[in-house]
Amino acid sequence: MSGASAVDSLRLVGIPGTNKVMGGELSRLAGRAFDGVRLPVPKKEGQGALVYPFDVETAALAVRYHRTASRVLWGLYQSRAARLEPLYDDFLGAVREDSRPWLREGASFSVTTSNMGRFPAGERQVVGVVKNAVLEGAAHRGFRLSVNPGDPDIHLVASMHDDVVTVSIDLAGRPMNQRGYRADTGMAPLRENLAAVLVMLSRYDARSEVLVDPMAGSGTIAIEAACMAQGRPVWVSPRRPAAGALPPFEKPLRRSAKPLFSDTRPLVIANELDRRTHDLSRKNSANAGVKEFVELWRGDFSRIEEKSVRTRAERRGFDPGRGVILSNPPYGERFSRGELVDLYRDLRRWCTRFHGWRAAFLVANPDFETAFGGRPRIKKPLRNGPLRGYFYLYDL
Ligand SMILES: C[S@@+](CC[C@H](N)C(=O)[O-])C[C@H]1O[C@@H](n2cnc3c(N)ncnc32)[C@H](O)[C@@H]1O
Repeated sequence: MSGASAVDSLRLVGIPGTNKVMGGELSRLAGRAFDGVRLPVPKKEGQGALVYPFDVETAALAVRYHRTASRVLWGLYQSRAARLEPLYDDFLGAVREDSRPWLREGASFSVTTSNMGRFPAGERQVVGVVKNAVLEGAAHRGFRLSVNPGDPDIHLVASMHDDVVTVSIDLAGRPMNQRGYRADTGMAPLRENLAAVLVMLSRYDARSEVLVDPMAGSGTIAIEAACMAQGRPVWVSPRRPAAGALPPFEKPLRRSAKPLFSDTRPLVIANELDRRTHDLSRKNSANAGVKEFVELWRGDFSRIEEKSVRTRAERRGFDPGRGVILSNPPYGERFSRGELVDLYRDLRRWCTRFHGWRAAFLVANPDFETAFGGRPRIKKPLRNGPLRGYFYLYDL
């Protein structure tokens, strides 16, 4: 008898510390897509993963529209085995007994691992075990599958949390941040899903507020803000989530993906000093389909007149007395410590002109808080890839 349990879960995996943000985003999407239907309360798996009961419509919604998650997974099997042979037996038994329709005759699959560092065997061995268990278990059920690591129909991932190994299908088939709009990477672009997290944390209300990124680089924050405001699909055509090849998703993912909040027409201003990077932001916002909502300005932010921002806001029907400044300013490379401190002080001086607004930043530099001054309403540790940083939110 199999020691693995078949689980049926929708797993949102994200940046550590963003569970609340990921849950809030899915609730907002589901509220609109399913006419106010409330989702079950998810279980937390550590600091950066949420687990919901699996439901194909919610999973299809997440893999199409969820911007703050790094991965959207369909959890299939779990095992507590701590060695390779029992792990193989567990998963083989579970695949044999499974009757869910994720298998298709002739389908190809790949297996990768994530967070398997604590399992007492190498990652390649775990991959081999899962691969063989799936091939054999599927053959027992009458399906001939093949392995195709490069371009598979089904992307399986084995991951470990609290001594439990879970095998899931990666429904996007790639990290969710690879949306397809980035023309090039600019100098230090933020991950797209991290930019989306910042937008959520800043509590930007696109129906009444303008958002300004004074040091926008290639425009990631601005583009994500505009896309979130409109509830636009994550994927820029022709990119699609891999789950479209799985039988249960054929119907929900065949329907065309329209923006969920097309009635919201945001105004986002992205300013950048460097010409080449500014040009990239133009391409990126066009590729993302939001160029009508993102105004691209070029120059030193400290020269931007507060009056011209408020006038733009008013002309587009926004309250000029409210708004959000959201940015990830430079925090290391290419600037000396003194230059950065001066830049943060200039930023403070510039921000204080926007009385009544909020300002929020992601910075990985210990000098920022003192140089910027004032007391943040929120200070939250948030990693930017390998860099330990903080998210700060100030009332201006
Ligand atoms: C960390 S990067 C921002 C990356 C951006 N979030 C992205 O995803 O592409 C900081 C940016 O600030 C710009 N910058 C530095 N000083 C500036 C200034 N005084 N005015 C406007 N932009 C400035 C740099 O050229 C750089 O592109």
